[in-house]
Amino acid sequence: MPDGDGDGELEARLVEQETFEPPEEFVEQANVSDESIYEEFEADWPRSWTRAADLLDWETEYSQVLDESNGPFYEWFADGTLNASYNCVDRHVENGDKNRVAIKWEGEHGETRTYTYQDLYREVNEFAATLRDLGVEEDDVVTLYMPMVPELPIAMLACARIGAPHSVVFAGFSADALATRMNSADSRYLVTCDGYYRRGDPLDHLAKANEGLEGVDHGVDATVVVDRLGDDGFGHDLKGNQHDWDDLLDDHQGDRIDPVERDAEDMLFLMYTSGTTGEPKGVKHTTGGYLAYTTWTSHAVLDLKPEDTYWCSADIGWITGHSYIVYGPLSLGTTTVMYEGTPDYPERDRLWEIVEKYAVDVFYTAPTAIRAFMKWGSAYPKRHDLSSLRLLGTVGEPINPRAWKWYYKHIGDEACPIVDTWWQTETGGMMVTTLPGVGTMKPGSAGPPLPGIDAKVVDTAGEEVEAGRAGYLTVEKPWPGMLRTLYQNDERFVQEYWQEYSDPDADEWVYFPEDGAKIDDDGYITILGRVDDVLNVSGHRLGTMEIESAIVGVEGVAEAAVVGGEHEVKGEAVYAYVILEDGYEGTEEMREAIIEGVEDGIGPIARPEQVIFTPELPKTRSGKIMRRLLEEIANGEELGDTTTLRNPDIVTEIQGKVQR
Ligand code: WT7
Repeated sequence: MPDGDGDGELEARLVEQETFEPPEEFVEQANVSDESIYEEFEADWPRSWTRAADLLDWETEYSQVLDESNGPFYEWFADGTLNASYNCVDRHVENGDKNRVAIKWEGEHGETRTYTYQDLYREVNEFAATLRDLGVEEDDVVTLYMPMVPELPIAMLACARIGAPHSVVFAGFSADALATRMNSADSRYLVTCDGYYRRGDPLDHLAKANEGLEGVDHGVDATVVVDRLGDDGFGHDLKGNQHDWDDLLDDHQGDRIDPVERDAEDMLFLMYTSGTTGEPKGVKHTTGGYLAYTTWTSHAVLDLKPEDTYWCSADIGWITGHSYIVYGPLSLGTTTVMYEGTPDYPERDRLWEIVEKYAVDVFYTAPTAIRAFMKWGSAYPKRHDLSSLRLLGTVGEPINPRAWKWYYKHIGDEACPIVDTWWQTETGGMMVTTLPGVGTMKPGSAGPPLPGIDAKVVDTAGEEVEAGRAGYLTVEKPWPGMLRTLYQNDERFVQEYWQEYSDPDADEWVYFPEDGAKIDDDGYITILGRVDDVLNVSGHRLGTMEIESAIVGVEGVAEAAVVGGEHEVKGEAVYAYVILEDGYEGTEEMREAIIEGVEDGIGPIARPEQVIFTPELPKTRSGKIMRRLLEEIANGEELGDTTTLRNPDIVTEIQGKVQR
């Protein structure tokens, strides 16, 4: 949002202020409040990571914290064994907290469901028994294509209990996207849902799941379908190997399954994410390192305590939900809130209504949401008592200072610290952010790297850049939550993340997250955004190649180039430049066919903001599309150098076609 917007909502005092200190009241109660933690981690690295591992219950203690012998294939706590479901469920039941609420779920229509840790224990066991009965064995990948229903975390934990890695596919993704991911993971089991509500209407999710199943190349052994819609459902008959969740659970009432002993390095789950190529990347996370890391960061950064009610408004279909709705909070024995619907249904105060209703202590959301709240105005949060809030967080994209300050004032009432957390699907958990009980906050800058995280901003040669200069973010030392590889593709793992700045001959490995950044004199890092062909639309990561291939799949399309243009609320929006085959015209029908092609190929989140038909794309003499130029055109910016173009005339023609 450009500066100047919503000025009436922030006094000059706040607009001017550049640094903020956490309130004393917060510091006094914080899980971590001593700045010596940074030195402690450094002095005793990597042994300092036992702090994270000590937050878990291990079945067998590990003898070595980090095995660096085969970089970048690092191993953490390698000879230790544990079970993630035991850590997130059983141990709280055993410790006398069986009646504490684990999950508070609220449906879009206001229905609620409450699961105590004992309830969770019962259902996770029963579903684990169900999965076994369906034939799922240890190390089989189970795909979970589910919206925000409590059965999703239950299924995740049931998988973890029997050592079957889950692969959650975001419910908003298309049938094609589901098929691609099931094929890639060779996954023979699917758990899905009949449908869910969006802005009052039931959506037919099972139709999409069934269509996806048709695209799976191998046999599918079983599908389990949760009945969310009841009488509002679409009346699908379940086919041969499709089963109703409730029926299966009835058959397994009272069953108990011992949590299997998993090696720390055993896969906990796979999560597909977008990269530069058209093929999504299957990021592999492990049982010990990932769980230790998400538990530790939930403790140190989110400041979660067992008695807290905590709400992360993300979808579990993304890594944020895995790490900070399910694994981190439940491992700490906290109450985690899940909400099915959108923030503006039935009205634009829905989230604040939920915060008030459950007296939420800690709230974690995305800058894109905050920009929307700002646009809607402060009258909506004002309707509610938000005084239960103690800490606020953001994730997913850079937050501009104005949105930060609006959040600080209108949601936090200037009494809650804000953590702006930089991390990625691949990092497993938060990497760069202030510790809320320790550090000064600087709106717009995520903060220093967390203790034990060796993040630097470097130039193309790998040398650290001066304060204030733009460079590339890198991470030199490994950390427990890091991805271990890309599923069945070690080579691509090395290529994607460890090529740029490493020196393999010297056995020196540097992780490259593909983000631009700058650093200030205090070591605070400001993230400038992706430097690869990946877009960040409303905090969601989308590969331009994936969108392009969906567009090129539409009849009549010859070539497409997709770039991100600035967007007030979404951060970035998809701009598609399209060349049609001879005999086709850039009509409204064609535009709709292209949008439909993208929705079918990926999902509505990738829907182009604008489709611009053009007879040619600006190309260099060597034939490369000049994407920078296409971005400048999308943003209505002054154009940079066009002298290297083979077809400079096309630029003005395209400029005239972009709607402003
Ligand atoms: C990309 C990772 C981390 C879970 C959600 C997204 C961007 C993430 C921030 C932040 C600026 C951020 C980066 C990163 N990003 N957090 N606090 N400030 N940018 O996970 O889909 O893997 O996307 O999101 O560009 O590389 P993801």
